[in-house]
Amino acid sequence: MLEIRKVLEEDKEIIIEWRNDPRVYKYALNPNPVSVENHEKWFGKVLSSNTCFFYMGIYDGKKCGTVRYDLLDNNHEAEVSISLAPDFWGKGLAFLLMNLGEAKLKLDSQVKVIHATVLNENTASMSLFVKSDFHPYLTKLKKEI
Ligand SMILES: CC(C)(COP(=O)(O)OP(=O)(O)OC[C@H]1O[C@@H](n2cnc3c(N)ncnc32)[C@H](O)[C@@H]1OP(=O)(O)O)[C@@H](O)C(=O)NCCC(=O)NCCS
Repeated sequence: MLEIRKVLEEDKEIIIEWRNDPRVYKYALNPNPVSVENHEKWFGKVLSSNTCFFYMGIYDGKKCGTVRYDLLDNNHEAEVSISLAPDFWGKGLAFLLMNLGEAKLKLDSQVKVIHATVLNENTASMSLFVKSDFHPYLTKLKKEI
Protein backbone atom coordinates (compact mmCIF):
# COMPACT_ATOMS: atom_id res chain seq x y z
CA MET A 1 0.00 0.00 0.00
CA LEU A 2 1.19 3.53 -0.80
CA GLU A 3 0.82 6.33 1.73
CA ILE A 4 2.19 9.87 1.90
CA ARG A 5 3.19 12.26 4.63
CA LYS A 6 5.04 15.55 4.82
CA VAL A 7 8.81 15.35 4.33
CA LEU A 8 10.60 15.48 7.70
CA GLU A 9 14.14 16.39 8.81
CA GLU A 10 14.88 12.63 9.13
CA ASP A 11 14.43 12.29 5.32
CA LYS A 12 17.43 14.54 4.56
CA GLU A 13 19.94 11.73 3.88
CA ILE A 14 17.75 9.47 1.78
CA ILE A 15 16.65 12.41 -0.40
CA ILE A 16 20.22 13.36 -1.36
CA GLU A 17 21.05 9.68 -1.89
CA TRP A 18 18.19 9.43 -4.42
CA ARG A 19 18.97 12.82 -6.00
CA ASN A 20 22.60 11.85 -6.57
CA ASP A 21 21.85 8.54 -8.27
CA PRO A 22 22.97 9.04 -11.92
CA ARG A 23 19.80 7.31 -13.15
CA VAL A 24 17.77 10.03 -11.41
CA TYR A 25 19.78 13.21 -12.10
CA LYS A 26 20.16 12.29 -15.78
CA TYR A 27 16.71 13.79 -16.32
CA ALA A 28 16.93 16.64 -13.81
CA LEU A 29 16.95 20.20 -15.13
CA ASN A 30 20.40 20.40 -13.50
CA PRO A 31 21.83 17.02 -14.61
CA ASN A 32 24.70 16.89 -12.08
CA PRO A 33 25.07 15.58 -8.53
CA VAL A 34 24.54 18.11 -5.74
CA SER A 35 27.00 18.64 -2.86
CA VAL A 36 26.02 17.71 0.70
CA GLU A 37 26.48 21.37 1.68
CA ASN A 38 24.14 22.67 -1.02
CA HIS A 39 21.61 19.93 -0.29
CA GLU A 40 21.56 20.82 3.42
CA LYS A 41 21.05 24.51 2.68
CA TRP A 42 18.29 23.75 0.17
CA PHE A 43 16.64 21.19 2.44
CA GLY A 44 16.56 23.55 5.42
CA LYS A 45 14.99 26.23 3.22
CA VAL A 46 12.25 24.02 1.76
CA LEU A 47 11.31 22.53 5.13
CA SER A 48 10.74 25.97 6.63
CA SER A 49 9.12 27.43 3.51
CA ASN A 50 5.40 28.15 3.35
CA THR A 51 5.47 28.14 -0.46
CA CYS A 52 6.68 24.57 -0.79
CA PHE A 53 4.58 21.46 -0.17
CA PHE A 54 6.90 18.47 0.00
CA TYR A 55 5.65 14.92 0.52
CA MET A 56 7.29 11.52 1.03
CA GLY A 57 5.77 8.35 -0.43
CA ILE A 58 5.85 5.26 1.79
CA TYR A 59 5.28 1.95 0.03
CA ASP A 60 4.64 -1.03 2.32
CA GLY A 61 6.49 0.80 5.10
CA LYS A 62 9.49 1.79 2.94
CA LYS A 63 10.31 5.31 1.74
CA CYS A 64 9.98 5.15 -2.05
CA GLY A 65 10.13 8.71 -3.45
CA THR A 66 8.93 12.28 -3.17
CA VAL A 67 6.54 14.70 -4.80
CA ARG A 68 7.02 18.43 -4.31
CA TYR A 69 4.88 21.41 -5.25
CA ASP A 70 6.43 24.88 -5.33
CA LEU A 71 3.98 27.77 -5.40
CA LEU A 72 4.45 30.12 -8.34
CA ASP A 73 3.75 33.85 -8.07
CA ASN A 74 0.35 33.34 -6.51
CA ASN A 75 -1.32 30.88 -4.17
CA HIS A 76 -3.26 29.16 -6.93
CA GLU A 77 -0.52 27.75 -9.15
CA ALA A 78 2.38 25.44 -8.41
CA GLU A 79 5.18 23.60 -10.21
CA VAL A 80 5.42 19.87 -9.51
CA SER A 81 8.55 17.77 -9.19
CA ILE A 82 8.26 14.01 -8.70
CA SER A 83 10.96 11.44 -8.22
CA LEU A 84 11.02 7.79 -7.23
CA ALA A 85 13.95 5.73 -6.00
CA PRO A 86 15.05 3.52 -8.96
CA ASP A 87 14.17 0.31 -7.05
CA PHE A 88 10.53 1.36 -7.24
CA TRP A 89 10.35 2.32 -10.94
CA GLY A 90 8.03 0.62 -13.41
CA LYS A 91 5.37 -0.50 -10.92
CA GLY A 92 2.87 2.30 -11.49
CA LEU A 93 3.83 3.89 -8.17
CA ALA A 94 4.61 7.35 -9.57
CA PHE A 95 1.06 7.56 -10.90
CA LEU A 96 -0.34 6.68 -7.46
CA LEU A 97 2.06 9.07 -5.74
CA MET A 98 0.97 11.88 -8.06
CA ASN A 99 -2.69 11.18 -7.22
CA LEU A 100 -2.07 11.10 -3.47
CA GLY A 101 0.10 14.23 -3.75
CA GLU A 102 -2.66 16.15 -5.52
CA ALA A 103 -5.26 15.08 -2.95
CA LYS A 104 -2.99 16.20 -0.08
CA LEU A 105 -2.09 19.45 -1.87
CA LYS A 106 -5.79 20.27 -2.19
CA LEU A 107 -6.18 19.91 1.57
CA ASP A 108 -3.01 21.81 2.43
CA SER A 109 -3.18 24.72 -0.05
CA GLN A 110 -5.34 26.79 -2.38
CA VAL A 111 -3.63 25.50 -5.52
CA LYS A 112 -5.89 25.01 -8.54
CA VAL A 113 -3.38 24.66 -11.40
CA ILE A 114 -0.25 22.49 -11.48
CA HIS A 115 2.58 23.04 -13.97
CA ALA A 116 5.23 20.49 -14.94
CA THR A 117 8.46 20.81 -16.92
CA VAL A 118 9.70 17.61 -18.55
CA LEU A 119 12.70 16.94 -20.78
CA ASN A 120 11.50 15.52 -24.11
CA GLU A 121 13.70 12.45 -23.81
CA ASN A 122 12.27 11.58 -20.37
CA THR A 123 9.66 9.23 -21.82
CA ALA A 124 8.68 7.66 -18.48
CA SER A 125 7.97 11.07 -17.03
CA MET A 126 6.13 12.23 -20.16
CA SER A 127 3.86 9.13 -20.07
CA LEU A 128 3.29 9.66 -16.37
CA PHE A 129 2.11 13.26 -16.82
CA VAL A 130 -0.12 12.39 -19.77
CA LYS A 131 -1.66 9.51 -17.81
CA SER A 132 -2.15 11.90 -14.88
CA ASP A 133 -4.22 14.24 -17.11
CA PHE A 134 -1.62 16.97 -17.66
CA HIS A 135 -1.81 18.50 -21.12
CA PRO A 136 0.78 20.41 -23.15
CA TYR A 137 0.30 24.17 -23.38
CA LEU A 138 3.81 25.54 -24.08
CA THR A 139 6.68 24.27 -26.19
CA LYS A 140 10.25 25.25 -25.41
CA LEU A 141 12.86 24.97 -28.17
CA LYS A 142 16.64 24.91 -27.92
CA LYS A 143 19.56 25.10 -30.36
CA GLU A 144 23.28 24.83 -29.69
CA ILE A 145 25.38 27.23 -31.82
C1 LIG B 1 9.49 9.53 -13.94
C2 LIG B 1 9.28 8.53 -12.80
C3 LIG B 1 8.73 9.31 -11.58
C4 LIG B 1 8.28 7.46 -13.27
O1 LIG B 1 8.09 6.56 -12.20
P1 LIG B 1 7.43 5.10 -12.40
O2 LIG B 1 6.83 4.66 -11.11
O3 LIG B 1 8.42 4.20 -13.03
O4 LIG B 1 6.26 5.41 -13.37
P2 LIG B 1 4.99 4.55 -13.54
O5 LIG B 1 5.35 3.09 -13.28
O6 LIG B 1 3.83 5.16 -12.81
O7 LIG B 1 4.81 4.70 -15.09
C5 LIG B 1 4.41 5.88 -15.68
C6 LIG B 1 4.42 5.67 -17.16
O8 LIG B 1 5.79 5.66 -17.64
C7 LIG B 1 6.05 4.48 -18.36
N1 LIG B 1 7.42 4.08 -18.08
C8 LIG B 1 7.93 3.68 -16.89
N2 LIG B 1 9.24 3.46 -17.02
C9 LIG B 1 9.55 3.72 -18.32
C10 LIG B 1 10.74 3.71 -19.08
N3 LIG B 1 11.90 3.39 -18.51
N4 LIG B 1 10.69 4.05 -20.38
C11 LIG B 1 9.52 4.41 -20.95
N5 LIG B 1 8.35 4.47 -20.29
C12 LIG B 1 8.36 4.12 -19.00
C13 LIG B 1 5.07 3.48 -17.84
O9 LIG B 1 4.85 2.47 -18.81
C14 LIG B 1 3.84 4.33 -17.61
O10 LIG B 1 3.16 4.61 -18.79
P3 LIG B 1 1.87 3.75 -19.22
O11 LIG B 1 0.97 3.74 -18.05
O12 LIG B 1 1.39 4.52 -20.39
O13 LIG B 1 2.42 2.40 -19.52
C15 LIG B 1 10.58 7.81 -12.39
O14 LIG B 1 11.11 7.18 -13.53
C16 LIG B 1 11.64 8.74 -11.80
O15 LIG B 1 11.61 9.02 -10.61
N6 LIG B 1 12.57 9.22 -12.65
C17 LIG B 1 13.66 10.10 -12.21
C18 LIG B 1 13.16 11.48 -11.82
C19 LIG B 1 12.33 12.11 -12.92
O16 LIG B 1 12.63 11.99 -14.10
N7 LIG B 1 11.27 12.81 -12.49
C20 LIG B 1 10.40 13.52 -13.39
C21 LIG B 1 10.99 14.84 -13.68
S1 LIG B 1 9.79 15.90 -14.43
